[in-house]
Amino acid sequence: MPDPKNEIARLRALIAQHDRHYYKDAQPVIGDQAYDKIKADLAELERTHPEISSTKSPSQSVGDDRLEAFKSYRHRLPMLSLDNTYNPEELIEFGRRLEKRFSEQSLTYLVEPKIDGVAVSLTYEAGKLVRALSRGNGVEGDDITQNVNHIEGLTDRIEDAPSVIEIRGEIYMRHVEFERINTERETEGKALYANPRNLAAGTIKLLDPLESNRRKLDLVLYGIGATEPTNFFSTQSEIQQKLKDWKFPVLEKFWIASSIEESWECIEKLNSIRQSFSYPTDGAVIKLNNIAQQREAGFTSKSPRWAISYKFEAERAETLLRNISLQIGRTGAVTPVAILDPVQLAGTTVSRATLHNEDEILRKDIRPGDTVLVQKAGEIIPQVLGVNLEKRPPDSQAFDFGDHLKELGIEAQRDPDQAVWRIVGKEDPIRLKRALEHYAGRSCMDIDNLGIAVIEQLVNRGLVTTIPELYTLSQTDVLTLEKFAEKSAQNLITAIESSKNRELWKLIHGLGIPHVGKQSSKDLDTNFDSLDTICEATTEQLEAVEGLGSIMAQSIKNWFSDIDNKELITQLKSHGLNFKSSRQAHLGGALSNKTIALTGSLPSMTRDEATQLIEAAGGRTSSTVSKKTDYLLCGEASGSKYIKAEKLNIAILDEIAFRRLLDSE
Ligand code: IVH
Repeated sequence: MPDPKNEIARLRALIAQHDRHYYKDAQPVIGDQAYDKIKADLAELERTHPEISSTKSPSQSVGDDRLEAFKSYRHRLPMLSLDNTYNPEELIEFGRRLEKRFSEQSLTYLVEPKIDGVAVSLTYEAGKLVRALSRGNGVEGDDITQNVNHIEGLTDRIEDAPSVIEIRGEIYMRHVEFERINTERETEGKALYANPRNLAAGTIKLLDPLESNRRKLDLVLYGIGATEPTNFFSTQSEIQQKLKDWKFPVLEKFWIASSIEESWECIEKLNSIRQSFSYPTDGAVIKLNNIAQQREAGFTSKSPRWAISYKFEAERAETLLRNISLQIGRTGAVTPVAILDPVQLAGTTVSRATLHNEDEILRKDIRPGDTVLVQKAGEIIPQVLGVNLEKRPPDSQAFDFGDHLKELGIEAQRDPDQAVWRIVGKEDPIRLKRALEHYAGRSCMDIDNLGIAVIEQLVNRGLVTTIPELYTLSQTDVLTLEKFAEKSAQNLITAIESSKNRELWKLIHGLGIPHVGKQSSKDLDTNFDSLDTICEATTEQLEAVEGLGSIMAQSIKNWFSDIDNKELITQLKSHGLNFKSSRQAHLGGALSNKTIALTGSLPSMTRDEATQLIEAAGGRTSSTVSKKTDYLLCGEASGSKYIKAEKLNIAILDEIAFRRLLDSE
């Protein structure tokens, strides 16, 4: 047993160090649970050795996020922390203490989600927002107004407010925004942010408010600090209602419980639904609902006696990293993936985790054979937070990305501008297979029955060496593949054939241009007339398209300037693929602005195929016949739609007439 005095000093220094990482740098290096454990150990030692205890101990304070560059202001009512527990028995004890204190009175609790964000306090004077402060050291906070005033839901003015009010809550970042920013950073070869909370904390402390405003933050408010006049509210639930009336973003759900046991039931309910909330929730906060009772219960130096937080077990676990496998993406980019000893995390078994890129592996010095800390947060793919160095095998060796690629026989080069390795040869079979799989996928050319097993065979047998060669395949070629018979071979050929009529954005997406996803492909489709005009567009013209940044514009330009890609486009055109954009189709297509109803089955095309042809020619389909219908396309001359169309004098087309109409432009 170490000397308690030394141990207390060690724990205090350790907490101070982790507080710096968490509050000042917004870069914690250990999880919440590990941090809370150190604090609990220190508090216990100080309790048993009161002679060493000190009010300056970090067990008695709330950390400090203040930075030199910010002006700080005093909170009218300090922003304190909460006592927390991971143990239901301690929660019940908290209730028992209050029951004892208020033995004559009935107690009601409010059970709220505990939001895992960054605390903020908004001061309104005469109903007008005067400033937003960070928690700071609890007594004084940094003025972060410039960095947060663009947040949706942060109102400038509130009606029927007390003359002064501090409104408190949390700022957070949604997962989609976090992913968006990290994807952008990845393309720029910059280090990735570890989690949404750290990024939100970093964003409100950016010195450049413009950059801060570029990152979308969200807000949820749940409480108040000082009010003038005092006693403006009499219960906690009334505060929630008033915040809602003021149109602030508020807690999606909270519960009123009439005993501490009932509170526990609410916490369990919360745990079962919290994944559906828009904000990350790491526990519950249980508060006395009655504010007069809160006042009477009072505070310790760092937290109220009338509230406690019950924290859910962290969604993190340690496990063995068996190997690092390399996955090839549609653009030939090589992505490292951790293959883990399966581990239970947030109710699911996790056996893989993303490692992002080479730099991430180097930065965290992750090696096969290491014991790693894995985290699963919300919908995010599990990620490796770090290595437990104490468990590293003595013969362990740093992971060499280049060597590993060589061992696997993958010829790749690191992109000089990014942290990404890419396969060099475009005809490399692995890269080609991935490119074809992407091209044929649902969100691209949607070619039925062209899955990975068929692609494997087509490439391995040399039947397809480029994307355009798909369109030269014959039924006889397909019949040489395993598990194909006459009918299935014909179906595949028909599916490939009908992909020629896909909307342009699907083709663009299918090309696998680096950084160009589904949405950007749609943006290109609606902003240019055809693939030919996109090929010829300058970087400036591309950049002018809303939604495409400079990185994407450059990437598109580079892709279309590449001689092999030019050849690929020429060949696709010669096979008759649709190059016309939806914009052009709508402007000048044969069915521009026409509404076509469909009925019955057509001799040689499915309804979906007919719909695609109609849309590609600028028309709309409708399921019913009305005065607004321009044509009825029908398989047989009967049925209620047919009769109605005749009655309304609407032109009726069979498949031949329909095809003629399409060709008439
Ligand atoms: S009430 C006197 N309610 O968690 C402090 N806090 O770990 C009263 N937090 O400082 C705080 N969700 O920044 C309260 N529903 C909630 C909360 C919440 C998140 C934060 C808050 C607090 C910290 C304590």
